Parts: sequence; C-alpha cells; structure tokens
Amino acid sequence: MKKIGIIGIGNIGSAIVRCVAPRSEFFLQHCDIDQALADALAEETGSKSVPLDRLLETSDIIVLAVKPQVLPSLYSRLSETTGKAWISMAAGITLDTLRTHLKATSIARIMPNIAASIGRSITAIAFTPQSDASFRADAEKLIGSFGTVFPLDEGLFGAFTAISGSAIAAVFQFLNGMALGGVKEGLSYRAALDIIAETCLSAVHLVKESGIHPEQLASQVCSPGGTAIEMIALLENRSFKGTLIDCIGAASRRSRTLEANVR
Ligand SMILES: NC(=O)c1ccc[n+]([C@@H]2O[C@H](COP(=O)([O-])OP(=O)(O)OC[C@H]3O[C@@H](n4cnc5c(N)ncnc54)[C@H](OP(=O)(O)O)[C@@H]3O)[C@@H](O)[C@H]2O)c1
Repeated sequence: MKKIGIIGIGNIGSAIVRCVAPRSEFFLQHCDIDQALADALAEETGSKSVPLDRLLETSDIIVLAVKPQVLPSLYSRLSETTGKAWISMAAGITLDTLRTHLKATSIARIMPNIAASIGRSITAIAFTPQSDASFRADAEKLIGSFGTVFPLDEGLFGAFTAISGSAIAAVFQFLNGMALGGVKEGLSYRAALDIIAETCLSAVHLVKESGIHPEQLASQVCSPGGTAIEMIALLENRSFKGTLIDCIGAASRRSRTLEANVR
C-alpha cells in the first residue's frame, strides 16, 4: 500500500484527510506545526500523525497543504529528501518553481476546493512532463477519492482557482444571502437555506442534464409581468453578471500576482 504524507492539516489538508483516510486504498499520514491538532485528526480519522522528518522519510508521495507564503521556508528541508513524488496545492506556485526548489521531477500541481471534505471537490491537476505513468495514476486515484479529477493546462490554473477553489466561497455567500432574503419574508433561516440549497441543486441538474443555455432557462422562468422578471430586472440594474465576471477576474489576478511574487 502506497504511503501518502500530508504536510499541513488546516482547512483543506484536514478536509482531504477526513474524506480519504477512512476508506482509502492509500495509507495516510500527516503532520502539522500544531502537534495537538495533528494528533486529534489522527484520532478522529485513523490517519497517522507523525513528525515532519518521519513523514519525509517514509512517504512515497508527499502532499504540500501549507499556505503558499509558508512553503518557501520549507524548501531547504524538503529538498534534502530524494526519490519522492510531490503534490502541491499551493495557490500560485508553479510546477517550475516547485521543481527548482524541491529538486525533484515527479510533481503534480492541484487545485481542490473545500468540498473535498465530503468527496465532492472538482480538482484541477497538471504534472511535470517528467512525471511517470505510475505516479500520474496514483495521484489521479488519490484525488479521485475526494471528488472529480479535472486535468488542466497549467496556464489555466489561475482561472480554475478563481472559478472553483475561490468561487465556492461566493456560492456560500449567495446561499446565505438568499436565505436571509427568505428570512426577511417570514421563513425560518433553516427552512430558507434548505429551500435555496435544493433550488440550486435543481438548477445545476437542469443545466447539466438538459444542455440548455442558462440564459434560455432563465427566460423560461420569466413570464410576462411575473415575479421572476422583477427579480432579474433588479439584478440586471445592479450589474449582477458584470459583478460576477469582475469577481472571477479579481481572483484570477490575485492568483497571477501570487505566481509572480511567491517563487
Ligand atoms: N482552503 C481552501 O479552500 C483551499 C482550496 C484550494 C487550495 N488551497 C491551498 O491549500 C493550501 C492550504 O490552505 P488552507 O486554507 O488549508 O491553509 P491553512 O488552514 O492555513 O492550513 C495550513 C496548515 O499548515 C500548518 N503549517 C504552517 N506551517 C507549517 C509547517 N512548517 N509544517 C507543517 N504545518 C504547517 C498551519 O498551521 P498554522 O495555522 O498554525 O500556521 C495550518 O494548520 C494553500 O496553499 C492554499 O493555497 C486551499
């Protein structure tokens, strides 16, 4: 059984451990600067909490789940470890940068989202050209165990980071805002959140299964002089779509800035 070592078990690292450890074909071990946190996660999930040195020594594949700003402080220690394959999820850190600092060739760059905790992430993946077939297969199997694998040209990682890893936060805000609107109209928050969440699921299924353009589906909902067109008119007046386009642009730009600054 291949050993996977995860460095950093904050928001996303712990989400992956929680999903994968109980039912994985891999043996999972992890470490964190907060030893108590690492031990508690091991207790909860059946993954193993180990010191960094042991993780580096014994893992076949090492997953980097620390903040991009923290990674440079680890490079010199990590690069002492030879013969390993690496997976990095650090936003804005390129395969070239990783290859240089880790002094390694088998590296995957991924971008998951927080729904990894329930096995529903869509995760972009790109490999260094030197990555061999066996590492590629293992990495895709690992990532597939917490959602859908989305092979992607590395040049598009900024766009993917914006529209998935980051945009899921905007989706949470959308759900919260709609639920609050329901509360204002007399529903309990719980009921309103359930209703809007189910409505979003209905919309997603309809878009995916029908293949009909979202604009056309929206026009089918807007009967003349009805309620939906009132809502759409207000959103159009407040540049709803323009705002969404701009927010994806803002997150993409931030990703490119990180890429330029964190080397
Ligand atoms: N959160 C997301 O939804 C998401 C989605 C896609 C990609 N990512 C990427 O995933 C990475 C982690 O993000 P995150 O949100 O999970 O960050 P986070 O919550 O800060 O988690 C990082 C963890 O690593 C720990 N850590 C810091 N220095 C360490 C060291 N030297 N050795 C071991 N552990 C150390 C941190 O401890 P302290 O808190 O004590 O510093 C923290 O527990 C980032 O590169 C981010 O770009 C995140």
